[in-house]
Amino acid sequence: MDGVTQGKEAAGSGRARHVAIIMDGNGRWAAQRGLPREDGHRAGIEALRRVVRGAPNLGVEMLTVYAFSTENWRRPASEVSALMSLLVEFLESETPELAAEGVRLATIGDLSVLPQASQEALRRALTNTAGGERLLLTLALNYGGRAEIVRAAKKLVRFVQAGRVSLGAVDEQMFASLLDTHALPDPDLLIRASGEERLSNFLLWQSAYTELWVTDTFWPDFGVEHLQQALLAFASRDRRYGSHS
Ligand code: IPE
Ligand code: IPE
Ligand code: MG
Repeated sequence: MDGVTQGKEAAGSGRARHVAIIMDGNGRWAAQRGLPREDGHRAGIEALRRVVRGAPNLGVEMLTVYAFSTENWRRPASEVSALMSLLVEFLESETPELAAEGVRLATIGDLSVLPQASQEALRRALTNTAGGERLLLTLALNYGGRAEIVRAAKKLVRFVQAGRVSLGAVDEQMFASLLDTHALPDPDLLIRASGEERLSNFLLWQSAYTELWVTDTFWPDFGVEHLQQALLAFASRDRRYGSHS
C-alpha cells in the first residue's frame, strides 16, 4: 500500500489506529511536589499502565511511546541509571499482565548500548508477549529520529555497495522499510504531555502527516480521559495530505 492510499483509509475512518506519545513532564511533576525526579518517573510508569489498559477500548491498535531519547544520556548518571532500573522493574512486574491483556511489546531505537540487564529484560518481555493481538506497545528506547535515519542510510549504502539494491530502486517506501518502524504504519496521532510544542527528535520521518495534540498536563497526571480527548479532537481533523478537501 502506498502512503497516499494508506492516508486516505485512515482519514476515512476518523479513528486513530496508531497513537504515538511523548511522555514528558515527569521531572516537573515531581518538582511541584518537592519530590525527587525519580518519583516522577515512577508516577509516569503508572500513567503508562493506565493508558495501555485503556487504549484498546478506544479503538487504538498500536501505541508507540517515547521512553528514552538519544539525547537523554546527557542527564546526570544517577537519573539515567534510575530510568534504566525502572525499565527493568516495569518489564519484570508487568509482563505477565501485559501478556494476559493481549499486549505485544516491541522496541525501536538502538538497544545495543543499553545496560546488559535492560537488554535481557527486554528480550524476555518481547518473547513472553509475542502472542499479544490486542495492542502493539512499542517502546522507543535510546531512540532518536535522526539517528534512526542515519542508521537506515548506512544500511542502504551497504546494500547498494554489495550490489543488492540499485539506486533506481530507492524510493520513500523502500527507505521506510529500513527504519526501525518498518513494521508499523505512520502514527495517525501524536500526543505530547507537559505543554512543550516540539518533537524532540521523535519519529521525524514517520510524523510527516501525523496529527499533533498537546496537553499541558504532566505525563504522571495523564489518564484515559486525556487519551479520549485527544482521540475526539483527532476525529474532527481534516487530513488532506497536501490534496484539496
Ligand atoms: C519525561 O519526563 C521522561 C523522560 C524524558 C525519560 P522528563 O524527565 O523529561 O520531565 P521534565 O520534562 O523534566 O519535567
Ligand atoms: C522527550 O522529552 C523524550 C522523552 C519523553 C523520552 P525531553 O524532556 O527529553 O525533551 P526536551 O528536552 O524537553 O526537548
Ligand atoms: Mg522533559
